[in-house]
Parts: sequence; C-alpha cells; structure tokens
Amino acid sequence: MSRIAYVNGRYLPLAAAQVRVEDRGFQFGDGVYEVVHLHRGRFTDEDKHLNRLGRSLGELRIPWPLSRAALGGIIREVVARNRLHANGLVYIQVTRGAARRDHVFPAATTRPTLVVTARTLAPYPRDVDAWATTIITGPDQRWDRCDIKTVNLLPNVLAKQAAREAGAFETAMVDGDGMITECASSNLWIVDERGQLRTRPLGHEILPGCTRAALAELLAGERVTLSETAFSLEELRRAREVFLTSATSFVRPVIRVDGTPVEDGKVGPITRRLFAAFARHVQGGLSNAA
Ligand SMILES: Cc1ncc(COP(=O)(O)O)c(C=O)c1O
Repeated sequence: MSRIAYVNGRYLPLAAAQVRVEDRGFQFGDGVYEVVHLHRGRFTDEDKHLNRLGRSLGELRIPWPLSRAALGGIIREVVARNRLHANGLVYIQVTRGAARRDHVFPAATTRPTLVVTARTLAPYPRDVDAWATTIITGPDQRWDRCDIKTVNLLPNVLAKQAAREAGAFETAMVDGDGMITECASSNLWIVDERGQLRTRPLGHEILPGCTRAALAELLAGERVTLSETAFSLEELRRAREVFLTSATSFVRPVIRVDGTPVEDGKVGPITRRLFAAFARHVQGGLSNAA
C-alpha cells in the first residue's frame, strides 16, 4: 500500500504530494514542525505536541493553518488512511506559505502550508540493554532560538551526520561556555557523579522536549528528584549514567561518550527505572494532559 500524505486540504499518495517551489519552507526554512509518536492508535503526549506547535507558530508569527480541533482530525485521518494500527510517527509541518520570493513576510492573506505524513515505527523496545546507544560530542552551531521547533535544521543535520560517521547515534552539542545544550534531535540527561539526575533548564538554548516534560512528570512516582541545571562537557564525561529523550527514542540509555564507557559501560539503575516508567506512560499509564 502506498503511503498517504495530507497537503493543504488533500489526501494524496506520497509520491504525488507536492508543495510549491516558492513555498517559504523550501526557500527559507520558514516553517515549524512536530513529530508525534503513535502507540496502538493512541498518540503519546498529543496535547504537549500541539501546545508546542502553537507556541512555535506564535513565536514566528505564522497563523494556525486551521483550528487545533481540525488538525487533530487530520492527523487521525492520515493515520487511518495509512492503516497505522500499531506503532507509528506522525509528522506535522506548517510553513508561512508560498509567495513570490522575498525575505519579508508575505501578504497577510497568504495561507500557511500544512503537510501531514505518517510512517510506521518499531514498537517500544522491550530490552533496555539492547536499546542502549552511543554518542559523540561536538560544537553547538545553532542560532539562539533553539526553543522554537523550526524546519531550519542544518546544524542538527551536520551534527547527526558527524555522529553517523563516527559510528555513534547522536551528538551532544557543547555551547561556547563548555556546557552541554542537548543532542541533535533529543534532550540529554545525566546522573552526575554525586547521583543527582540533571538536565539543562528550559531556555532559548534547547528545545522544550515533550518527552522531557512527560518524563519530568513521572519522576515523583519514581521517587527521583531532578535538578534542572546545565552540566559541562567534563561533567558529562564523569557522569554515572547518561540517557537521551525524544518522541522517537523515548528514554534511550547512552553507554559510551566519545568512545569512552559511561561508568562500567552498562545501563545504570535510574535509567533502567525511567525507561520502564516511560514504557508504562506510552502504553497508557498517564492521560494525555498537557
Ligand atoms: C533538537 C531537539 N531536541 C530535543 C528533541 C526532543 O523533543 P521531543 O521529546 O518533543 O521529541 C528533539 C526532537 O526532535 C529535537 O529535535
């Protein structure tokens, strides 16, 4: 069965789906996106993702392409037409629309472009040890509004490619002060050498991850406290445990940083517990409340 995409009011086979050459997403990267995980027909943290989409649009002054309720209907329709009954991912992309090329915003009558696609994803991993991965580190070369989920992803693309070429999964990005911001497409967490769980506080330097937020809400139930404090590259290297979070990676243990094992190179106890807690969350343990 060919995949079906939604583009500006129409459901089309993916190969036939098109946006215009003068779309500002193509010309300028002038757009935003969301990636939502689907588990057995239920979206994980749907409200958080749609809230963040609204925030990204607002920060860039791109109007909603249609109402939030209508968008909710479209993503369900895309899932249904792609027969994604099990596990999947839904991509929502909104650009400022197509208009004669000019850096300044087009006329207010320009309609935003809305594209929704979906694809299958392997089920939530059962084996946390097999899910463990490796990262490298590199400079954070992005702009200073990384809190907006824009389709402008060139530094992230280069960072992810650097990881791939080094045989790793992700790159932890280091800011000008030697502090870790996040990874190319995930948030990064450590259990530091004193046993404290830490992740960088929200700000313009990182994306406010929906998985990060959902996991933070689960911590009380796990009797784990979180310190939202930036940590340095050196602290990352000395950490007892390291893991990353995203809508596609969930809670993913990191067992090597730049080729050096984290502690004994095995998944640590806090990561193990949080992986299990997030599995319950994905499987319906919590409501979708924002
Ligand atoms: C730069 C960056 N940070 C963090 C994340 C994790 O966000 P979420 O948990 O909402 O997927 C992503 C996800 O794509 C990302 O691109």
